[in-house]
Amino acid sequence: MSEPIRFYHRNAIREVSDAGVTRSVLQYLREDARCTGTKEGCAEGDCGACTVVVGERNAEGGVSFKAVNACIQFLPTLDGKALFTVEDLRQPDGSLHPVQQAMVDCHGSQCGFCTPGFVMSMWALYEKHGHEHAGAPGGCAGKSACSTPSRDDIANALTGNLCRCTGYRPILDSAEQMFKLEGPKAPIDVKALSNTLATIERKDTFHYEHKGQQYDAPRTVDALAAIKEARPDTRILAGSTDIGLWVTKQMRELGNVVYVGQIDAMREIAVSDAFIEIGAAVSVERAYAELAKHYPELEEMWLRFASLPIRNAGTIGGNVANGSPIGDSMPGLIALGARVVLRGGDVEREMPLEDLYLAYQKKDMAEHEFVLALKVPTRTGARANLKFRTYKVSKRFDSDISAVCAAFAFIADGDTVREPRIAFGGMAATPKRATHTEAVLADAQWHEATAQAAMIAMGNDYAPLSDMRATSDYRLEAAKNTLYRFWLETRPHNPLAPQAINVRAVAAETA
Ligand SMILES: Cc1cc2nc3c(=O)[nH]c(=O)nc-3n(C[C@H](O)[C@H](O)[C@H](O)COP(=O)(O)OP(=O)(O)OC[C@H]3O[C@@H](n4cnc5c(N)ncnc54)[C@H](O)[C@@H]3O)c2cc1C
Ligand code: FES
Ligand code: FES
Repeated sequence: MSEPIRFYHRNAIREVSDAGVTRSVLQYLREDARCTGTKEGCAEGDCGACTVVVGERNAEGGVSFKAVNACIQFLPTLDGKALFTVEDLRQPDGSLHPVQQAMVDCHGSQCGFCTPGFVMSMWALYEKHGHEHAGAPGGCAGKSACSTPSRDDIANALTGNLCRCTGYRPILDSAEQMFKLEGPKAPIDVKALSNTLATIERKDTFHYEHKGQQYDAPRTVDALAAIKEARPDTRILAGSTDIGLWVTKQMRELGNVVYVGQIDAMREIAVSDAFIEIGAAVSVERAYAELAKHYPELEEMWLRFASLPIRNAGTIGGNVANGSPIGDSMPGLIALGARVVLRGGDVEREMPLEDLYLAYQKKDMAEHEFVLALKVPTRTGARANLKFRTYKVSKRFDSDISAVCAAFAFIADGDTVREPRIAFGGMAATPKRATHTEAVLADAQWHEATAQAAMIAMGNDYAPLSDMRATSDYRLEAAKNTLYRFWLETRPHNPLAPQAINVRAVAAETA
């Protein structure tokens, strides 16, 4: 039986029974709830005009606040969560919230169209850093729960928000300034919110229907497996950062949908001696945060993967299952030797990640199967000497899709290359290993001549396409050059220091 979607919004539990399964949170806000502070720009997760904050009860009994793009989130996924928009910043006595006051003080807004989105990304940052708990004049007054982000942290939190008239410097200034102001008159009572959310938490599968289209949000892997076995064509929905665009841009009908975002077991990360095991429904942001602890070389790829709101919503399992030839996580994961765990019915099986991809949009995954988890080897034993790098070549530095995405790894045995693994995105119809290039490197001395021979061999591995992102020639040339860069950074003698090859560091030095 269909139950209403229940979520917390504007100080009350809302119940919605008559919305389409793919009605976006933005449509709900603007057209149903008449909360028109949240704007629509691109309707594809790119501009940030629609940024809202979603609160979810966390394992500690508190609430985690995440900025997401309302234009590509479907309303039923809000079930059990809290929705905050720019309207929620209004203080009862008419005073401005510090986020808003800082925007005024630093001239962070001109036409104002982007401002609600920026303000919500900034508010999520404000909450994350604990300043809301102060409540009292003088802000957090140095309470241990509070911290202040660096300007780089702020810039990273705002990569998903575009402004065409103000310029970013005053907005970054505002985000620094908000932490220096007195706390809001009416801060969020996180404990009370958590208690409220507990009252709408479901123990079992949430089932919703609208005009014959079914939406299920199971709580267990077994329940998900049962739904997929009974109705294999049911579309799995995770963060909807790919699927959302099928609806808003391609007007596709999704059919029945099963949402994996309420399955705790698929949102867990477990680290053993051998593997970092990441549940498929773990967000891209959390997955990279964990992986970068073990492989700090992933940090730049992490920050350049879309924007924070997209990484907050999008999942690592969605990236892998979608298997786009220009997806960013697969090359790095394949180079690291990751394995993908699939589940179908009662059966679990696993394989090297590269084996999942058979051809363009064709995977070794039956219709009733789904991605359960990824297993990434830890840096133990001989892998302590792993040389590893990933490179993203795109037209914009931030928030852009790769023209070429490269990943290289090998175990350094003195000057000898052991077990090389190279994978690329943007170079073939699937994420693909460079087996000819690897063969040149295997057990060779890591000399410049070896790197150059491997670069030539790469021509046998890939015949990339030309499209609006890059020509075929450009892609192949850029791919070869990333291998040369890898050599420069990992050569046994006199490797280049990270700041020597970081575009921003070099630019800052020469400015
Ligand atoms: C503005 C913007 C910027 C982006 N930038 C990047 C970028 O820089 N790099 C990049 O790689 N990607 C990027 N993406 C694409 C997208 O964010 C990623 O592919 C993301 O990881 C998809 O995950 P999701 O949870 O949102 O998947 P969804 O959209 O929910 O699903 C995607 C596909 O995977 C399937 N699926 C999801 N989970 C599972 C599962 N557990 N088992 C089986 N099938 C499953 C779905 O059925 C669907 O076919 C961007 C997207 C947007 C909108
Ligand atoms: S409207 Fe542009 S990100 Fe949502
Ligand atoms: S103030 Fe006009 S788009 Fe940012």
